[in-house]
Amino acid sequence: MPKYLAGKYSHSQIAEVLIDAPAIEARVADLGAAISRDYAGTIPLLVGVLRGCIVLMADLLRQITIPVNLDFIAISSYGPTTRSSGVVRIQKDLETSIEGRHVLLIEDIVDTGLTLGYTLRMLRSRKPASLAVGTLLDKPARRLVDIDLKYRCFEIPDKFVVGYGLDFDQLYRNLPFICVLRPELYS
Ligand code: IMP
Repeated sequence: MPKYLAGKYSHSQIAEVLIDAPAIEARVADLGAAISRDYAGTIPLLVGVLRGCIVLMADLLRQITIPVNLDFIAISSYGPTTRSSGVVRIQKDLETSIEGRHVLLIEDIVDTGLTLGYTLRMLRSRKPASLAVGTLLDKPARRLVDIDLKYRCFEIPDKFVVGYGLDFDQLYRNLPFICVLRPELYS
Protein backbone atom coordinates (compact mmCIF):
# COMPACT_ATOMS: atom_id res chain seq x y z
CA MET A 1 0.00 0.00 0.00
CA PRO A 2 1.45 3.43 -0.95
CA LYS A 3 2.38 5.57 2.07
CA TYR A 4 -0.03 8.39 1.15
CA LEU A 5 -2.99 6.04 1.53
CA ALA A 6 -1.87 4.54 4.81
CA GLY A 7 -3.87 7.02 6.87
CA LYS A 8 -7.13 6.10 5.11
CA TYR A 9 -6.80 2.40 4.53
CA SER A 10 -4.73 -0.07 6.45
CA HIS A 11 -3.21 -3.32 5.27
CA SER A 12 -5.64 -5.09 7.55
CA GLN A 13 -8.56 -4.15 5.25
CA ILE A 14 -7.04 -5.76 2.16
CA ALA A 15 -7.15 -9.54 1.80
CA GLU A 16 -5.30 -9.77 -1.51
CA VAL A 17 -3.94 -7.52 -4.28
CA LEU A 18 -5.13 -9.11 -7.52
CA ILE A 19 -3.57 -6.69 -10.03
CA ASP A 20 -0.80 -4.25 -9.14
CA ALA A 21 -0.33 -0.75 -10.57
CA PRO A 22 2.45 -1.55 -13.10
CA ALA A 23 0.36 -4.40 -14.58
CA ILE A 24 -2.63 -2.06 -14.96
CA GLU A 25 -0.45 0.61 -16.55
CA ALA A 26 0.92 -1.86 -19.12
CA ARG A 27 -2.54 -3.18 -20.12
CA VAL A 28 -4.03 0.31 -20.35
CA ALA A 29 -1.16 1.28 -22.67
CA ASP A 30 -2.00 -1.78 -24.84
CA LEU A 31 -5.66 -0.76 -24.86
CA GLY A 32 -4.81 2.81 -25.90
CA ALA A 33 -2.62 1.50 -28.73
CA ALA A 34 -5.34 -0.89 -29.95
CA ILE A 35 -7.99 1.86 -29.95
CA SER A 36 -5.63 4.25 -31.77
CA ARG A 37 -5.00 1.60 -34.43
CA ASP A 38 -8.58 0.32 -34.81
CA TYR A 39 -10.25 3.74 -34.95
CA ALA A 40 -7.59 5.51 -37.06
CA GLY A 41 -9.22 7.83 -39.59
CA THR A 42 -12.29 8.40 -37.38
CA ILE A 43 -12.96 10.49 -34.29
CA PRO A 44 -14.47 7.95 -31.90
CA LEU A 45 -16.68 9.02 -29.01
CA LEU A 46 -15.49 7.45 -25.79
CA VAL A 47 -18.39 7.09 -23.36
CA GLY A 48 -17.43 6.46 -19.76
CA VAL A 49 -19.90 4.75 -17.46
CA LEU A 50 -19.70 6.72 -14.21
CA ARG A 51 -18.38 6.56 -11.63
CA GLY A 52 -16.17 3.48 -11.78
CA CYS A 53 -14.61 4.37 -15.16
CA ILE A 54 -12.95 7.62 -14.18
CA VAL A 55 -9.47 6.39 -13.24
CA LEU A 56 -9.28 4.12 -16.28
CA MET A 57 -10.62 6.87 -18.55
CA ALA A 58 -8.09 9.44 -17.33
CA ASP A 59 -5.19 7.03 -17.91
CA LEU A 60 -6.57 5.58 -21.16
CA LEU A 61 -7.19 8.96 -22.82
CA ARG A 62 -3.51 9.80 -22.51
CA GLN A 63 -2.56 6.54 -24.25
CA ILE A 64 -4.73 7.28 -27.31
CA THR A 65 -2.85 8.96 -30.14
CA ILE A 66 -5.77 9.81 -32.46
CA PRO A 67 -8.41 12.56 -31.96
CA VAL A 68 -11.23 11.44 -29.65
CA ASN A 69 -14.36 12.93 -28.12
CA LEU A 70 -15.43 12.21 -24.55
CA ASP A 71 -18.77 11.95 -22.80
CA PHE A 72 -20.16 10.23 -19.71
CA ILE A 73 -23.29 8.38 -18.71
CA ALA A 74 -24.38 7.39 -15.22
CA ILE A 75 -26.55 4.33 -14.67
CA SER A 76 -27.81 3.24 -11.30
CA SER A 77 -28.37 -0.39 -10.50
CA TYR A 78 -30.53 -1.37 -7.57
CA GLY A 79 -30.06 -4.36 -5.33
CA PRO A 80 -27.79 -5.63 -2.56
CA THR A 81 -24.57 -3.64 -2.37
CA THR A 82 -22.19 -6.13 -3.97
CA ARG A 83 -24.61 -7.65 -6.50
CA SER A 84 -26.26 -6.20 -9.61
CA SER A 85 -30.03 -6.57 -9.92
CA GLY A 86 -30.52 -5.64 -13.57
CA VAL A 87 -33.04 -2.99 -12.54
CA VAL A 88 -31.37 0.11 -13.92
CA ARG A 89 -32.10 3.79 -14.37
CA ILE A 90 -30.26 6.56 -16.29
CA GLN A 91 -29.05 9.06 -13.71
CA LYS A 92 -27.06 11.20 -16.13
CA ASP A 93 -27.53 10.98 -19.88
CA LEU A 94 -25.03 11.79 -22.62
CA GLU A 95 -24.67 15.37 -23.75
CA THR A 96 -23.54 14.31 -27.25
CA SER A 97 -25.75 12.97 -30.04
CA ILE A 98 -24.37 9.57 -31.00
CA GLU A 99 -26.26 9.14 -34.27
CA GLY A 100 -23.72 8.15 -36.95
CA ARG A 101 -20.83 8.18 -34.45
CA HIS A 102 -18.33 5.44 -33.64
CA VAL A 103 -19.07 4.93 -29.96
CA LEU A 104 -16.81 3.04 -27.56
CA LEU A 105 -18.30 2.44 -24.14
CA ILE A 106 -15.66 2.32 -21.39
CA GLU A 107 -16.54 0.21 -18.34
CA ASP A 108 -14.75 -0.54 -15.10
CA ILE A 109 -16.04 -4.11 -14.80
CA VAL A 110 -18.49 -6.44 -16.52
CA ASP A 111 -19.99 -8.84 -14.01
CA THR A 112 -23.48 -10.24 -14.80
CA GLY A 113 -23.64 -7.91 -17.82
CA LEU A 114 -27.15 -6.81 -16.87
CA THR A 115 -26.27 -3.12 -16.51
CA LEU A 116 -24.20 -3.12 -19.68
CA GLY A 117 -26.84 -5.06 -21.63
CA TYR A 118 -29.43 -2.44 -20.77
CA THR A 119 -27.06 0.44 -21.58
CA LEU A 120 -26.12 -1.05 -24.96
CA ARG A 121 -29.77 -1.55 -25.96
CA MET A 122 -30.53 2.02 -25.07
CA LEU A 123 -27.52 3.41 -26.97
CA ARG A 124 -28.13 1.17 -30.01
CA SER A 125 -31.60 2.68 -30.40
CA ARG A 126 -29.90 6.05 -31.00
CA LYS A 127 -28.34 4.69 -34.22
CA PRO A 128 -24.56 5.04 -33.77
CA ALA A 129 -22.38 4.04 -36.76
CA SER A 130 -20.77 1.47 -34.45
CA LEU A 131 -21.04 0.58 -30.80
CA ALA A 132 -18.40 -1.40 -28.92
CA VAL A 133 -17.28 -2.01 -25.36
CA GLY A 134 -13.92 -1.76 -23.65
CA THR A 135 -13.60 -2.87 -20.04
CA LEU A 136 -10.83 -2.92 -17.50
CA LEU A 137 -12.09 -6.09 -15.82
CA ASP A 138 -14.14 -9.02 -17.03
CA LYS A 139 -15.71 -11.37 -14.45
CA PRO A 140 -17.16 -14.03 -16.80
CA ALA A 141 -18.10 -16.55 -14.10
CA ARG A 142 -21.30 -14.69 -13.24
CA ARG A 143 -22.33 -13.52 -16.75
CA LEU A 144 -26.09 -13.67 -17.38
CA VAL A 145 -26.20 -11.62 -20.59
CA ASP A 146 -24.06 -12.54 -23.60
CA ILE A 147 -22.05 -9.44 -24.45
CA ASP A 148 -19.32 -8.97 -27.01
CA LEU A 149 -16.37 -7.23 -25.32
CA LYS A 150 -14.19 -5.73 -28.04
CA TYR A 151 -11.46 -4.88 -25.53
CA ARG A 152 -10.76 -6.10 -22.03
CA CYS A 153 -7.65 -5.61 -19.97
CA PHE A 154 -8.03 -8.43 -17.42
CA GLU A 155 -10.21 -11.45 -16.74
CA ILE A 156 -10.71 -11.95 -12.99
CA PRO A 157 -12.25 -14.71 -10.85
CA ASP A 158 -15.63 -14.39 -9.13
CA LYS A 159 -14.50 -12.04 -6.35
CA PHE A 160 -15.76 -8.60 -5.39
CA VAL A 161 -12.89 -6.22 -6.10
CA VAL A 162 -12.13 -2.57 -5.33
CA GLY A 163 -9.57 0.05 -6.34
CA TYR A 164 -8.58 1.90 -9.55
CA GLY A 165 -12.05 3.47 -9.67
CA LEU A 166 -14.07 0.54 -8.29
CA ASP A 167 -15.76 1.06 -4.96
CA PHE A 168 -17.39 -0.68 -2.08
CA ASP A 169 -19.89 1.66 -0.41
CA GLN A 170 -18.27 4.61 -2.27
CA LEU A 171 -14.86 3.92 -0.72
CA TYR A 172 -11.56 2.53 -2.04
CA ARG A 173 -11.83 4.11 -5.53
CA ASN A 174 -8.49 5.86 -4.96
CA LEU A 175 -6.45 2.72 -4.41
CA PRO A 176 -4.02 2.51 -7.36
CA PHE A 177 -4.36 -1.30 -7.64
CA ILE A 178 -7.18 -3.87 -7.82
CA CYS A 179 -7.70 -5.81 -4.63
CA VAL A 180 -10.12 -7.93 -2.61
CA LEU A 181 -11.18 -6.73 0.84
CA ARG A 182 -11.40 -8.88 3.91
CA PRO A 183 -14.80 -10.65 3.90
CA GLU A 184 -15.85 -9.18 7.28
CA LEU A 185 -15.85 -5.67 5.71
CA TYR A 186 -18.61 -6.66 3.27
CA SER A 187 -21.06 -7.85 5.90
P1 IMP B 1 -23.23 -6.07 -13.78
O1 IMP B 1 -24.52 -5.43 -14.19
O2 IMP B 1 -23.47 -7.25 -12.86
O3 IMP B 1 -22.33 -6.45 -14.92
O4 IMP B 1 -22.42 -5.05 -12.85
C1 IMP B 1 -22.36 -3.73 -13.19
C2 IMP B 1 -21.77 -2.85 -12.14
O5 IMP B 1 -21.72 -3.47 -10.83
C3 IMP B 1 -20.33 -2.49 -12.47
O6 IMP B 1 -20.23 -1.44 -13.42
C4 IMP B 1 -19.83 -2.07 -11.09
O7 IMP B 1 -20.21 -0.76 -10.82
C5 IMP B 1 -20.57 -3.04 -10.16
N1 IMP B 1 -19.71 -4.19 -9.84
C6 IMP B 1 -19.82 -5.47 -10.28
N2 IMP B 1 -18.84 -6.23 -9.77
C7 IMP B 1 -18.08 -5.42 -8.98
C8 IMP B 1 -16.90 -5.62 -8.19
O8 IMP B 1 -16.30 -6.71 -8.09
N3 IMP B 1 -16.44 -4.51 -7.53
C9 IMP B 1 -17.02 -3.28 -7.61
N4 IMP B 1 -18.12 -3.05 -8.34
C10 IMP B 1 -18.64 -4.10 -9.03
